[in-house]
Amino acid sequence: MKMFDVYSVHDVSIVTGRGSWVYDAKGDKYLDMYGGHAVISVGHSNPDYVEAVTGQLGRLGFYSNSVVISQQAELAEALGSVSGLGGDWQLFLCNSGAEANENALKLASFHTGRRKVISVGGAFHGRTSLAVAATDNPSIVAPINESNNVIFTTFNDLNALEQAFATAASDGGVAAVIVEAIQGVAGIKVVEVEFLRAVRSLCDKHGAVYIADEIQCGCGRTGRYFATDWADIRADIYTMAKGIGNGFPMGALAIAPHIKPRKGMLGTTFGGNQLACVAATAVACVIERDGLMNNAFEVGEYLMSELRKIHGIREVRGRGLMIGIELNPDFESVATKLLFGQHVFVGTASGGRVIRLLPALNVSRAEADVALAAIRKVLTPSC
Ligand SMILES: Cc1ncc(COP(=O)(O)O)c(C=O)c1O
Repeated sequence: MKMFDVYSVHDVSIVTGRGSWVYDAKGDKYLDMYGGHAVISVGHSNPDYVEAVTGQLGRLGFYSNSVVISQQAELAEALGSVSGLGGDWQLFLCNSGAEANENALKLASFHTGRRKVISVGGAFHGRTSLAVAATDNPSIVAPINESNNVIFTTFNDLNALEQAFATAASDGGVAAVIVEAIQGVAGIKVVEVEFLRAVRSLCDKHGAVYIADEIQCGCGRTGRYFATDWADIRADIYTMAKGIGNGFPMGALAIAPHIKPRKGMLGTTFGGNQLACVAATAVACVIERDGLMNNAFEVGEYLMSELRKIHGIREVRGRGLMIGIELNPDFESVATKLLFGQHVFVGTASGGRVIRLLPALNVSRAEADVALAAIRKVLTPSC
């Protein structure tokens, strides 16, 4: 058998990692400013995380949601504390980001009895059926996923948002608005706080559910636990994945108290298993104990201010450690040059024109300086 060939890969195999550094099979060292798509939140092989997961594995690897899983309550407590959501909010656990959004959209539809969803132009919400229907990329929507239940509104356009509600009102009403406070896959595009506040007030007005997709922008990356927090509002459902498990596959929904569960409404075999829960609890505790949201904000601000001084960069966007670097069009293959010439991992968007920095939340200023020197070198070959 061989792998189904769907990924474009770099010709490098990473075998070990520690903190913000990873090593290939030859022992060559790379600075990881990408965290494998924003997944590594507390650093590779973080000692607290390794101890939690290996300790649990030695006791019990898995038992299903047919029994009490005490690790779930511990995780709910830790997430309630680090996020500031507190004890009345409810947690549903699953296995990936797409699955989190799929369940959030389904839950909004159960809750409201409606079908229409408003999504934002440029959005990426995952590849399962509803999540991909709410994703603004026709090339990954299979004919079977096409849905006339999703209305795409224009990024940051308040009039278009109101119009989308009006259109849906004549067709059974809006079940949910799903929005990333910072669009990641689209190239780190920050949604204006006025737009997020308008989503909140229109959802209130029309009885719709506000789903904040915090899968890439959440988990403390922007300096507050949820990127939506910068608008000083609460969503009704927050979806999480990626950084929540620091590499252990996990998805989660934080659900507002007014949305009520019923037995059998949602479910999964693996979601909320013992290993995933202890992994995510360790992550939440490390973020809170080590003040990683402050670090993310401070190192992120430093990186952005230094990046803005570099020749060849058209725009620097983002918040905290979610940074998009839009390059002048004459630059090519910058991510590849950074990887193979400078041994720095970064991500890309918009066909390589935007570099995405999504490092671990405990990346240091000294490591940021290494990344900055590498970027300067690639963009200014003479320096
Ligand atoms: C904002 C956002 N939502 C959803 C997803 C899907 O997550 P997953 O790949 O874990 O299904 C992603 C993945 O990149 C994402 O960035």
